[in-house]
Parts: sequence; C-alpha cells; structure tokens
Amino acid sequence: MKIFVAGATGVLGRRLVEQFNTNGHDVVGLTRDEEGDRIVSSQGGTPHRGDVTDYESLVGGAEEADVVIHAATAIPTAQKPTAEDWEQNDRIRIEGAKNLTRVAAEVDANQYVQPSVVWVARQPDGSKFDESADPNPDRTTKSALEAESIVETAGEEHGFDTAILRYGWFYGPESAQIRNIAENLVSGDMPIVGGGLLGRKDATVSCIHVEDAASALVTAVESDASGLWHVVDEEPVAVESFLKQFASELNADDPSRIPGWLARFFIGKDNVRFFTNSMPTTNRAFKREFDWEPTYPTYRDGVEAVVEAWETENVSFV
Ligand SMILES: NC(=O)c1ccc[n+]([C@@H]2O[C@H](COP(=O)([O-])OP(=O)(O)OC[C@H]3O[C@@H](n4cnc5c(N)ncnc54)[C@H](OP(=O)(O)O)[C@@H]3O)[C@@H](O)[C@H]2O)c1
Repeated sequence: MKIFVAGATGVLGRRLVEQFNTNGHDVVGLTRDEEGDRIVSSQGGTPHRGDVTDYESLVGGAEEADVVIHAATAIPTAQKPTAEDWEQNDRIRIEGAKNLTRVAAEVDANQYVQPSVVWVARQPDGSKFDESADPNPDRTTKSALEAESIVETAGEEHGFDTAILRYGWFYGPESAQIRNIAENLVSGDMPIVGGGLLGRKDATVSCIHVEDAASALVTAVESDASGLWHVVDEEPVAVESFLKQFASELNADDPSRIPGWLARFFIGKDNVRFFTNSMPTTNRAFKREFDWEPTYPTYRDGVEAVVEAWETENVSFV
C-alpha cells in the first residue's frame, strides 16, 4: 500500500513510518524542514515538504495514496501553555482534518486515519468509560471532537473508510513531555498535584507506550478498519503511581504532593485539569476486533523500557 503520513516526524509519526516500512508499505512522510527530511528518510520513508494548514502543499505528496493519516499536532509541550498555544493546537486539528480529508478525496484514498484523545469522553465523576460514552469535551479537547466529526462526515460524503483511534496519554523515549517530566523528577521540581486544604485528588489515567500506539494504527490500516476505538494499555494508573515508578527507575526521590491551586502557578491550569481529572478507559473493543496486543501491557513495563532506552543512548537528566 502507499501511505501518506502527516506528522511523520512526531513521536507517533516516526514510529508509523518505521513500522509501515518494515511491513513493506511505501510511506511518504510530511516534513517542514531538513531535520524532518532526515528523520523520515532514516525510518525508511520518502519526505514531502508541506503544511497541514496549506491544502496545495499536501496533494502532491499524497498522489496515489491508499491511506491518508493525520498524525500532526501542536499539543503544547511548554510547562505552562498559553491560550495561543492551545489555539494553534486547535488549528492543526481542525484545519488539518479539513485539508487532509479533502486530500484523501482528491487522490481517491480508501482509508483515512485520525488519531484522537480518549480524554474527549472522560466522565465528570472520573468513572470508567468506553467508546459508547457521551463525549465530555473541555477547552483543550473540543477541537479533537470537532476533528473527529469532520472526518466522519468526509468519509460518508466521499466514500472512504475512516478509522478514529482515540489514544491514552503517550509516553516513550522521544516524547518531549516525558523528557520534561524526567528532567523535573530528577531536579525535584515535578509535583504530584492534589492534596492539602484546597487540593483535589490526583487522577487515574489510561496511557500507552508510543510503540504500541503505532502498532495499533498499523493494524487498523492493514485490517481496513472503519470505526472509532480507544487504544490504551491494560491498566489505568494513578498519576501518583506513574510518577513514583518513573522516579524510581530514574533513581530520583519520590515527587512531593502539592495542592492544585498552588500547582497552577507552576504548570498552568490546563495541566492541573489534566492531572486531576480521571480518564480510565479500556482497549477491550479494539482487542476484540483486531489481532493486537500491546508490547508494554502496563506502565511498569513501559516506563522501564523508556529509561533503558535513555541509558542505551546515554541520555542524562542530571
Ligand atoms: N502526545 C500524547 O500524549 C497523545 C495522546 C493521545 C493522542 N495523541 C495524538 O497522536 C497524534 C500524534 O501526536 P504526537 O504526540 O506524536 O505529536 P508530536 O510528537 O508533538 O509531533 C507533532 C507532529 O506534527 C507536525 N506538525 C505540527 N504542526 C504542523 C503543521 N502545521 N503542518 C505539518 N505538520 C505539523 C510536527 O512536525 P515538525 O517536526 O515539523 O514540528 C510533528 O511531526 C496527534 O493526533 C495527537 O493528538 C497524542
């Protein structure tokens, strides 16, 4: 198959290029600079320069593609993101989905794949949910839901299959967010949010190692999937347990607990909301439908692998 990947230089995208290439597919990866060209080529793909907000720049790269994938994002990586950071993220999600579905129609692709986030449907009371739950978007996830809807409508209108994979929180050795957390754990600046007089309890989150996020998407493409699924590992985890496990693998001290109102000053209110709202969900439907198993079934396996990868590459946070 010929596969066009937008976001091919990202944490998920570069794994997609690598895995599709390994499975014998032709991959064209969207890039924006020389470094991007180098990343895509090193994973066995062909780089094509363009921008998801510029339709004309995309069509040439996607010529004859069987599958179009929108894995571009501008999820803020700053410790305290601004309103403008989130607006840019909205543009990439919404304009990107409009342009890339238009591209899929233009090149007569069979399938379009949209990664999304499971936390668009997290429940107000923090209870477990699945694909059938009513969405419950907030400021940072409204645009993910809008992108899902753009994709479904375009698929119906133009007759291509649409697979929406809502992922849990990504972690992996290349993830900027995970590297920030590791740096802050080692320096003693990573709080566990919640507790104290005005504090809120921390959350239970569903997460997934990026290697598994990519293998699930490759499976969905090779199975001609059409539908919406949650892709997470086997065990939702309390943020506190995740951070403590991470600290232990890094030989750092346990992070200390600070109340939510105080954490807002350090990591911003959107990150506090993320770390204090539970989003436990399940991969049951995806596993039932496809022959897929995560390589890292729990955060314990995955975090250990991340730290091992850093040790192999001599990455240090001291
Ligand atoms: N991170 C998570 O925890 C998480 C969780 C669930 C779902 N997801 C979803 O998974 C997908 C991939 O996320 P990720 O974490 O792999 O992202 P990432 O590592 O931040 O990579 C972002 C990618 O988007 C590209 N990009 C940004 N703006 C662009 C533009 N205007 N035009 C073209 N490309 C642009 C970047 O290219 P450059 O290299 O040129 O900047 C990069 O390739 C997204 O749909 C995201 O919502 C992420």
